[in-house]
Amino acid sequence: MLFGALRNYYSLAQSLEPLLSRPIRDRDQDLWCLLIVGAYQLHYLRIPDHAAVHATVSACAALGKPWARGFVNGVLRSLQRGPKPSFDAAQAHPDWFADLIRAEMPRQADAVLQGNQTRAPMSLRVNTTRIDPADYGRALSEAGIESQAGLVAEQLILNQPVARHTLPGYADGLVSIQDAGAGFAPQLLAPQCGARLLDACAAPGGKLFHLLERCPDLDAVALDVAPARVAHLRDEAGRLGHRASILEADATTREWWDGTPFHAVLLDAPCTGSGTLRRHPEMKLLRGADDLAPNAERQAKLLSSVWHTLRPGGKLLYCTCSLFSAENDAVIEEFLANTADARTSAFVLPAGLSTRHGWQLTPADWRTDGFYYALLSKD
Ligand SMILES: C[S@@+](CC[C@H](N)C(=O)[O-])C[C@H]1O[C@@H](n2cnc3c(N)ncnc32)[C@H](O)[C@@H]1O
Repeated sequence: MLFGALRNYYSLAQSLEPLLSRPIRDRDQDLWCLLIVGAYQLHYLRIPDHAAVHATVSACAALGKPWARGFVNGVLRSLQRGPKPSFDAAQAHPDWFADLIRAEMPRQADAVLQGNQTRAPMSLRVNTTRIDPADYGRALSEAGIESQAGLVAEQLILNQPVARHTLPGYADGLVSIQDAGAGFAPQLLAPQCGARLLDACAAPGGKLFHLLERCPDLDAVALDVAPARVAHLRDEAGRLGHRASILEADATTREWWDGTPFHAVLLDAPCTGSGTLRRHPEMKLLRGADDLAPNAERQAKLLSSVWHTLRPGGKLLYCTCSLFSAENDAVIEEFLANTADARTSAFVLPAGLSTRHGWQLTPADWRTDGFYYALLSKD
């Protein structure tokens, strides 16, 4: 209910607002949230209307506001009596988001917005240092978990999500959970085995460990600025059996660097996460258009800082889980304009669309969240 109410928040709010004689006071915003959850049940779930209204009204007591029962009951009964509204996917997004998607990818916009309204599949990356993907697929099947191929050889997409502890060999590091769209770093960066690799924003380590699974003898340095995320990264390295030098460090500085240049750099930059609304519908409420500029500034700073650590002839893969050009092509565009020794390389992925400087995956393809990749090389 929480996911559904957040995913459809803007449509639900639109259906409730005309029923309120005045806006709800700040200190009663919990009642507004309760109405949203009630409206979600009435509009989207198969629960009988009377049961949905009864359960929602009863929750007033749990909120310590039994006096609000009549109000919540009245609003939900009015909603129930009215015509069943039909909302399109765009109405379930904040206006700025839908407008920007339409402006930036007009042909795909409807499918992208529709994709954001769906439940993301659970995708796995098999740890090929421990088990062959086909053997792992068989182990899943024996455990009654059906799966299909993902977008790269070591991926499997489950037909139904399951709790992670029920995945065969999860605790023994046979497998990780990772969106299928996140699986292109090894083939794009393609470091030589034994190469020196920097992952500048590494936690929780999905792409780093994927690279190490393809090439276990990479000389990998992994940074992350957030202490709790560094701890998680270390735990994951232990679970999967991978070796990397993991540092708690700020990649906008080079204080952590010993001066030995890297053959390959992965910069999976912090971003608005606008490509992950299927998994994080709360982002619709927590992020706004004014988050784009500060993120772009931080991304540009990270990119220009880590560029110095790349050796001539080396490659840098820039990626984000954003759908918006401000964090993607525009960052690369500005970087190329200011960096004489940087070039982009063209490539094609099996889903998504090409952009001026890279490639954009979108949730219009049910298998992937939104991801952006751009591949740079140094003269
Ligand atoms: C998109 S996530 C990385 C995901 C990861 N590459 C993966 O595939 O699992 C971005 C990470 O960057 C980290 N980060 C943010 N600012 C940073 C900085 N200045 N230096 C290093 N890491 C930073 C965040 O803590 C976060 O863990």
